[in-house]
Amino acid sequence: MTDFNEKIIEEFRANAGKVGGPFEGSPLALLTTVGARSGRRRTSPVGYVPDGDRVLVVASNAGAPHHPAWYHNLLANPQVTVEIGTESHEATAVPAQGEERDRLFARVVRAAPGYGDYQAMTSRILPVVVLHRTHPASAAAWGRALGEELRELHGWFRQELATLRDDVEAYLGDQATAPGAGRATPQVARQLRERCLSFCEGLGRHHTGEDTVAFPHLKERFPELDQALDRLRREHAVVERLRGELQAALGTLDTGGAGQQGPDRLRADVERLASELEAHFDYEEEQLIPALNSLTGVPWPRPR
Ligand SMILES: [Fe+2]
Ligand SMILES: [Fe+2]
Repeated sequence: MTDFNEKIIEEFRANAGKVGGPFEGSPLALLTTVGARSGRRRTSPVGYVPDGDRVLVVASNAGAPHHPAWYHNLLANPQVTVEIGTESHEATAVPAQGEERDRLFARVVRAAPGYGDYQAMTSRILPVVVLHRTHPASAAAWGRALGEELRELHGWFRQELATLRDDVEAYLGDQATAPGAGRATPQVARQLRERCLSFCEGLGRHHTGEDTVAFPHLKERFPELDQALDRLRREHAVVERLRGELQAALGTLDTGGAGQQGPDRLRADVERLASELEAHFDYEEEQLIPALNSLTGVPWPRPR
């Protein structure tokens, strides 16, 4: 197993994170933990699912009856290193608990159904570990321009938004064809709510980070961005309101709330949020990326 892992690690690092064989096509990260007993750093290839600025990994051990060693290690020492592609960052590993674990596991299985099979093979409840990026004190340590990070993060939200719209269409299609009272199956409704929740939570965190950390610093460093930053803040408030309306509509799916209001209403809620958000991301990137990119090497809290 060790030899096998060594080969994968070698291939990963030589190949900008791409690995063939059994791992071909599934997103793979290298996770380095500190041995709980040995105190030595150990690297393991792990499958992962991105979750905004966080990374989710499952201690599946391919469905074996015991946890993988890296899981025991991170319980003893949660400071870990994560390599994805050519990027490497420090992170704090936090195993999700209770309902949050179940919600995140469902999310992982949607992205990588194989984990559902692993869960079926063992009586262990497969732990889901959230890897939170550690915020280094200096941008120089990040090795990457901040503006490009913003673009990448927006890319993730854009992708999630597209999936959310697909899920809404799937729900409406199901609602139209389901036998009975024009009510979609609870499973489809639940999936839609989960999708919306994870997207909305991530978006809320991102905008709060911008409002409270990134924007005040940008304002100080680049007084010329004053008006743009004010507009972006106002847009955050609009997005927040639309997001609340959508979540409220989705919250009443089971009682027929959004159903009674009609499919057009639900579709309109999503489309309004989508077009506001797309325009917001475009404007924000246009206004802030040049300034953010010029900041590499300056002590600066990470914009989240
Ligand atoms: Fe924003
Ligand atoms: Fe943003």
